[in-house]
Amino acid sequence: MAEQASGKVSMEKIVSLCQRRGFIFASSEIYGGLSSCWDYGPLGVELKQNVKQAWWRSVVQERDDMVGLDASILMHPQIWAASGHLKQFADPLVECKRCHLRWRADELKDNSCPSCGGEVTEPHLFNLMFKTFMGPVEEEANIVYLRPETAQGMFVNFQNVVNTTRKRLPFGIAQIGKAFRNEITTGNFIFRSREFEQMEIEFFVKPETDEEWFNYWLEERRDWYVNLGIKKENLQLRQHTKGELAHYARKCYDIDYRFPMGWAELEGVANRGDFDLVQHASYSGKSLTYLDEETNEHIVPYIIEPSAGVDRSVLAFLCDAYEEEPDKDEIRVLLHFHPTLAPIKVAVLPLSKREQLVQVAKEVYAELRPCWMVQYDDTQSIGRRYRRQDEIGTPFCVTVDFQSLEDNQVTIRERDSMNQIRLPRAELKRTLAAKLEGEDLFVLPPGGQIWKEGGNG
Ligand code: GAP
Repeated sequence: MAEQASGKVSMEKIVSLCQRRGFIFASSEIYGGLSSCWDYGPLGVELKQNVKQAWWRSVVQERDDMVGLDASILMHPQIWAASGHLKQFADPLVECKRCHLRWRADELKDNSCPSCGGEVTEPHLFNLMFKTFMGPVEEEANIVYLRPETAQGMFVNFQNVVNTTRKRLPFGIAQIGKAFRNEITTGNFIFRSREFEQMEIEFFVKPETDEEWFNYWLEERRDWYVNLGIKKENLQLRQHTKGELAHYARKCYDIDYRFPMGWAELEGVANRGDFDLVQHASYSGKSLTYLDEETNEHIVPYIIEPSAGVDRSVLAFLCDAYEEEPDKDEIRVLLHFHPTLAPIKVAVLPLSKREQLVQVAKEVYAELRPCWMVQYDDTQSIGRRYRRQDEIGTPFCVTVDFQSLEDNQVTIRERDSMNQIRLPRAELKRTLAAKLEGEDLFVLPPGGQIWKEGGNG
């Protein structure tokens, strides 16, 4: 029986694979690391780019009612007064009187320190925004904040977007970017860190249509994860109770994923009502209304906000893709990434290091490289090289063998089934393109044949 990942795979296994294969490293590792900061390695950066690109394609490029934005991280400090972050973006902090470790009060089971059992202080509110100074003078007047969410950049550009794109309601703005939070407790690898990336949508609607659009986006966003390979049973929708709702939200659902440590938020979908536009209009003195051409009235749109974490999505895709299978006396570890997300789409492998084989394999590699992220590998046995590609989630391996020198044909081996087909080189690019789009491996191109079904290849 294959060990199926999510809910069962341990975080240790995911962390170890990420470290070993170059997906994710601890930040500043040679200096002992920097708490809760992470560096994406050569494969991790590809995976993360693919996640962001898939999101951007689906919410911006494939839609008529969305536009993109890339706002700056540093923004006018008044924005954080208007948004409520200066007053309300805080967690209750306690300190152990004995060992002086600090904890989030709402995460303690009783009033004692989880580390040494000592008594803790009364809670006080700790603001999670990182502060810094604009310009060379470190004084109060020059304080700016690293944004704790990308959302505000979209609210304050609402009028710019309406004026320059002539978008009519309903329409949305999408943005991907870094956010920073001085979290009191971090952990679970990249799940909660102090520097992370968000993919946020602010969708502006007529107030009376808010429920309809809220439901639409909740479903749309859940389906996005499923279409990219996350198992339905590892996702759940959870409504926030009144006590949990953020100060700006009229209603909110979390899309939870079953991470190794349990169910936890992957993305939030909130109905923010008119809170943000009203607040920014009031603090800036600028009108942020919208002229409804049907009624000739100025209205303040409501905002539906699907807000996802890039890093949490990467972690969920990794956990969901992870699988271990018995393989003779060993274990085959594989990542079943959807081809859209796989860091490497195709690996080109000569059967051996013989010069003629290497030459043909390098030609094939050069031919495929302009189309996809392709890797060439001629080290170690072919079996080991297949396993290496399985472990990093490469959907297809192309193998050049001695017969290729005679018949100008190569084999394609599929990661999950290990099935193989053989086909003329002239058909390779077109065939791989179709397979990466989801065509069954055994749909054969002209001159193609089934080579091997399953097995340990
Ligand atoms: N604009 C609304 C907003 O920022 P949020 O629920 O605080 O809402 C949205 O954050 C998403 O950002 C979360 O669902 C999560 O995926 C991600 N996120 C939030 N804090 C994070 C952290 N400390 N580390 C990693 N991801 C985080």
